Amino acid sequence: MSGAVTVTGETDLMRLLSTLALSASLLGAPALAGAEPAAAGGNQGGSAAAKDAFIASLMQRMTLDEKIGQLRLISIGADMPQPRLIEEIAAGRVGGTFNSVTRADNRPLQDAAVQRSRLKIPIFFAYDVVHGHRTAFPISLGLAASWDMDVVERSARVSAIEASADGLDMTFAPMVDISRDPRWGRTSEGFGEDPYLVSQCARASVRGFQGSSPARADSVTAVVKHFALYGAVEGGRDYNTVDMSPLRMFQDYLPPYRAGIDAGAGGVMIALNSINGVPATSNRWLLRDLLRGQWGFHGVTVSDHGAIEELMRHGVARDGREAARLAIDAGVDMSMHDSLYLKELPALVRSGEVPVARIDEAVREVLGVKYDMGLFQDPYRRIGSARDDPPDVDAEGRLHRAEARDAARRSLVLLENRQRTLPLARGGTVALVGPLADAPIDILGSWSAAAKARQSVTLLQGMREALAGRGSVVYARGANVTDDERVVNYLNFLNWDKPEVVQDKRPPQQMIDEAVEAARGADVVVAAVGESRGMSHEASSRTSLALPGSQLALLQALKATGKPLVVVLMNGRPLDLNWAKGNADALLETWYAGTEGGHAIADVLFGDYNPAGKLPVSFPRSVGQIPTYYNHLRLGRPFTPGKPPNYTSQYFEEESGPLYPFGYGLSYTDFALSGITLSATTMPRQGSIEASVTVKNTGTRDGETVVQLYLRDEAASVVRPVKELKDFRKIALKAGESRQVRFMLDEDRLKFFNDRLDYVAEPGEFTVQVGLDSQAVRARTFTLLR
Ligand code: NOJ
Repeated sequence: MSGAVTVTGETDLMRLLSTLALSASLLGAPALAGAEPAAAGGNQGGSAAAKDAFIASLMQRMTLDEKIGQLRLISIGADMPQPRLIEEIAAGRVGGTFNSVTRADNRPLQDAAVQRSRLKIPIFFAYDVVHGHRTAFPISLGLAASWDMDVVERSARVSAIEASADGLDMTFAPMVDISRDPRWGRTSEGFGEDPYLVSQCARASVRGFQGSSPARADSVTAVVKHFALYGAVEGGRDYNTVDMSPLRMFQDYLPPYRAGIDAGAGGVMIALNSINGVPATSNRWLLRDLLRGQWGFHGVTVSDHGAIEELMRHGVARDGREAARLAIDAGVDMSMHDSLYLKELPALVRSGEVPVARIDEAVREVLGVKYDMGLFQDPYRRIGSARDDPPDVDAEGRLHRAEARDAARRSLVLLENRQRTLPLARGGTVALVGPLADAPIDILGSWSAAAKARQSVTLLQGMREALAGRGSVVYARGANVTDDERVVNYLNFLNWDKPEVVQDKRPPQQMIDEAVEAARGADVVVAAVGESRGMSHEASSRTSLALPGSQLALLQALKATGKPLVVVLMNGRPLDLNWAKGNADALLETWYAGTEGGHAIADVLFGDYNPAGKLPVSFPRSVGQIPTYYNHLRLGRPFTPGKPPNYTSQYFEEESGPLYPFGYGLSYTDFALSGITLSATTMPRQGSIEASVTVKNTGTRDGETVVQLYLRDEAASVVRPVKELKDFRKIALKAGESRQVRFMLDEDRLKFFNDRLDYVAEPGEFTVQVGLDSQAVRARTFTLLR
């Protein structure tokens, strides 16, 4: 562990506990069950020296085969049948498994490790707990839209509590890949486009998953992924190449991984892509020089699924033997979905091609992470005993609905609200239409871990409950998500347990007619449209960001009724919203809001909650505009609104700039921002200045908003962005209330990577920009002195 780990002095008692724990676990008995670690941070109560000594002594007794066994991360269900897996574990050939999600499933596997294997080394259990476990929280992109780090941390904490209660020790999260290309389906899994915001989310998330220590029985070890730069795959095509300048890498794409690691993440998952010609999985520079060397990471690195074998397909390894050698040499500790480490490493070590020291380094990290999880102290720390197993793993009482509803409400972004169409008055009739209005699976979002669709609240259910006798809802599906059979087949082919895009077989016009009739009899139309969750998923890259034709046709028919039209979007990436922006009376971005999504959206639609979310990504006008990220570099010939466009950088047949900018989002009240006051116009080296603004709630409702601070370096030794987010505050103001918001700016905030990759602040002029989104800002300049 690095960064946040606090190591306390070792006491005699701790030494004793440690010895007892080791002998007990070596004897196969669960040692000291329930004992909590004394130290905050990574280890189970001893010092770093005690941990090293413990691991060194254990490693002395390990055979080469046992060591290699520790490097294998086995996929439950995919790699081998259960009886064989148990035998493999008993033979000491497994370090950890992933994809089993109950204590009852995990227990026999741990039994095989600690009762039958020679050295009785516990295995760990991992899973993709990305945005919730039994309870789905909003997808990460939605959590980021809350701009509320308490929400991000709390959702990870709840996820850890639920996952650990199912016998899990580790999550493959947070996913902190910066994504500037919404064609990439995994945009939904990350926290957006901005290095600062994503880094904040990375930190909050790791803190939430690991709590005060990964050794706590209710914590899971966080594995930051996908290291590195996976979000920059060419053309947004999943699994593609990344080719990127070092400056951009260090300035924009690497900071979130670093933030997660500095927050103490116990693991790092290596990306599937190549970086400037070298796959991440065989990239010594990435894993040894940068991660371990420069950043000082002490924790476990795991390959992504089958990535070591893929080194052959990348064309950097001739055969499996070479692939295994490249990976272990580069610093890949664990092989996920392993075939090659088991098969090739023994001979590679015997022939001297791989020094045993390489294997030892990796094993040390695997045992280290297990030590930090507290597994040597008690291998059943999270599995517990059978008599305490929940009789029903899906029991309602195991969910955290209140926390999920709160997070979901905070993640919603109001994009349009003409003539204050929203909030809706109770009392009338609402026509609720659209393929996502009653879609219990989709609202969970992809990577929804162990969440069950039958426990999710759809928008239909949420609205019915919100009205409860004070108005009525008439529902019509109106359209399928898409009428394109090819797309449906593809989505159903993705790795879901069963096909989840189920088509309504009626002719499209018949469905539209039914919806139009419902609209005609209603006071207002709410249309829930967007993407089925599989469309915003791994391997779901798109060439178009348009709403599928079936849904656009539905919206157009609804518009023609003349009834007020509220469009509720469910999607995991920025969509092309041109039509909706021009035609909807209100437009609400809800991402995939999770188990309590329907309640949360209804809370906003009926005004029981005043929305305050802000976009964590820019929404482009068209696919042709991609990338549209706000913090782009300055140019010699920039397009400048209001100035002649010729010979400037723009597309001549379309308006420039995003449709909705980064940081944008409305509220049911209005806020006014004063000009910026600076405490000084010069900043000495190592000094600081304060920038303050006054925000006033000028409307008639209480509400929250996010005050965003951007900086621009006016002249530097390398080209710098037009602006960069450096800080933000989410504040709550009562109707009519004003508040001064202060930001402290010190030299660190002015730093960037120069062309030698030194992290420096250069003297000169800086412009502070403060706004309630990234575009409409107030500005003031100051000078950093020499
Ligand atoms: C592949 C994905 O890329 C990764 O994010 C995930 O953690 C692993 N599969 C395990 O499910």
